[in-house]
Amino acid sequence: MPTFLTKYPSVDDLRRKAAQRIPKFAFEYLDGGCNEDVNLHKNTRELHEIELIPQYIKPFGGLTLQTELFGRLYDAPFGIAPIGLQGLLWPNAPVILAKAAKKHNVPFVLSTVTTTSLEEIGQVTEGDFWFQLYHPAENSLRDDLLLRAEQAGCQVLCILSDVPCFGFRPRDIRNGLAMPPSMSLKNMMQIASRPEWALRTLWHGQPQFANLLPYMPKGLNMKALGQFMNQTFSGRLNQQRIQEIRDRWKGKLVLKGVASLEDAEWALRLGLDGIIVSNHGGRQLDAGQSAIKSLHPIVQNYKGKLTIMMDSGVRTGPDIARTLACGADFTFLGRTFMYAVAALGEEGGDHAIGMLKTQLQQVMEQVCCEKVTDLPSCRVPFPRV
Ligand SMILES: Cc1cc2nc3c(=O)[nH]c(=O)nc-3n(C[C@H](O)[C@H](O)[C@H](O)COP(=O)(O)O)c2cc1C
Repeated sequence: MPTFLTKYPSVDDLRRKAAQRIPKFAFEYLDGGCNEDVNLHKNTRELHEIELIPQYIKPFGGLTLQTELFGRLYDAPFGIAPIGLQGLLWPNAPVILAKAAKKHNVPFVLSTVTTTSLEEIGQVTEGDFWFQLYHPAENSLRDDLLLRAEQAGCQVLCILSDVPCFGFRPRDIRNGLAMPPSMSLKNMMQIASRPEWALRTLWHGQPQFANLLPYMPKGLNMKALGQFMNQTFSGRLNQQRIQEIRDRWKGKLVLKGVASLEDAEWALRLGLDGIIVSNHGGRQLDAGQSAIKSLHPIVQNYKGKLTIMMDSGVRTGPDIARTLACGADFTFLGRTFMYAVAALGEEGGDHAIGMLKTQLQQVMEQVCCEKVTDLPSCRVPFPRV
């Protein structure tokens, strides 16, 4: 058994290690939800209500995790969700995760507001990546980002719908991370208590919004950077904005952040290829439903009409199996991968993907499923959520 698997066999081990290895303000940025964290906890709790039926006597001819998505065969039914400011959590985190995803043949989604550029990820992955677009206020900026994504080889574009405004996140506000990030004495002391993170960050350079550098005036101080970000990304998504992107983007197009039948219907009508049912990992609407609860009616009404993916609250192999058993075609995980990179650096992505695959394979053996698409037949009917 590989050393990391014996030392960190669960996401809880990785989360604990991450908390010991990175400054508290960075860990809290990753770990927290919004407001009172109700939806953050509900996401995982209600997912855990989904039960599968073991089958031990039925003939079993072995299993495969291979999953077809948008005409492409991936080696597992899960991928890496987009996360902003990843370099704050661990230097070079987007490259570490993109390389791991490439090695394991699973999708990696790059965020508009992360710390490695489209061009660098395009190079590292030889164009084998997805891009998540925060819709900018200016169409010229949108068009330039779309062009850069296309030139970098991006295979699937995800338009983010669930950030009409930033979620209210008390930890980030307390820590001065609510745009612009502040370097208070408290934060400096937290950095001093994590020397490896501090040295690596120093060596790698301060994290920057790498995709936005070409559009930013040079030499912005923290306050001006905050104003720039607020102005650049103000404005919510609407039908016209999605339509214009659909007309421009020739590749596969996905709406991320769908949590209602109404938004799923918009996605279908506007000619999108798929949706990611998601509540941003409980970071936007604390009074919202858990993602698994949102998923059920969407599957009932749109399965087969749209590719239905989901994220939010998924931490483990059994969780991935639960989402697929409820009818999702594919699943993404956000925090799990970032805990792994914050805990293990360069080895984090590889370890997390390997661990999740092993856990998922074991579930499939228990329920006697040879293919991930068979998982819905193993679910205890009548969901309790
Ligand atoms: C720290 C953090 C930053 C995030 N940044 C982005 C982002 O820049 N773009 C985006 O589409 N989603 C972002 N998300 C949401 C994730 O893509 C994903 O929907 C969520 O993490 C899934 O929930 P999980 O963390 O419970 O797996 C972020 C999530 C976290 C935890």
